[in-house]
Amino acid sequence: MTAPSPASRAGAAGSTAPVDPAGFRRAMGRWPTGVSIVTTRADGVDSGLTVNAFLSVALDPPLVLVSLAHEADSTPRVQRSGRFVVHVLGARHRPLSERFARAAPPEEKFEGLAIARGLGELPILEGTLAVLECAVREAHDVADHRLFVGAVERLSLGADEAPLVFFRGRYAEAETEGRLRLPDPRP
Ligand SMILES: Cc1cc2nc3c(=O)[nH]c(=O)nc-3n(C[C@H](O)[C@H](O)[C@H](O)COP(=O)(O)O)c2cc1C
Repeated sequence: MTAPSPASRAGAAGSTAPVDPAGFRRAMGRWPTGVSIVTTRADGVDSGLTVNAFLSVALDPPLVLVSLAHEADSTPRVQRSGRFVVHVLGARHRPLSERFARAAPPEEKFEGLAIARGLGELPILEGTLAVLECAVREAHDVADHRLFVGAVERLSLGADEAPLVFFRGRYAEAETEGRLRLPDPRP
């Protein structure tokens, strides 16, 4: 086994040295995630953002968690709405992920997209792999993020296609059935 580099050892063996943010990002980059878009609607305005800090918290009842930065425009809107929708993206939705990761006015993000209306009139993007419509059950501020725990009230499954994956700070691409082309390691 390769010896861990100092960056990855920081803090692990009782060291009190502060963890370097770049090292933290690199370490977390080795944790592959899916990619989702979280949408909401507050004061009659649709908004949404790309989110990979999404996980299942409990099965009974079904609860999920999303971690949204305080600085994201969508965060106070989820709070005001009390609802959000998580869309699980497929490999072919990378342009959609890029669109919703941009700091842009909400109407620009939704321009030209096929939208359905879900519970609470929230926008649902058509054609994603899975859609979870959630009611905010708990919200917790943790440092620069707000954690929203959502009760899943309605589910719909789309095509069972290759997922969009984020790894090493970049998107991984579906190659063929059951294979992923991972981004090269950073130098
Ligand atoms: C792959 C990927 C994953 C992201 N995950 C998150 C996340 O989990 N939480 C978050 O607050 N922002 C996340 N972002 C950043 C937001 O999508 C981005 O800041 C967005 O512009 C916020 O939009 P808004 O200000 O219109 O709400 C992610 C971006 C990318 C590209």
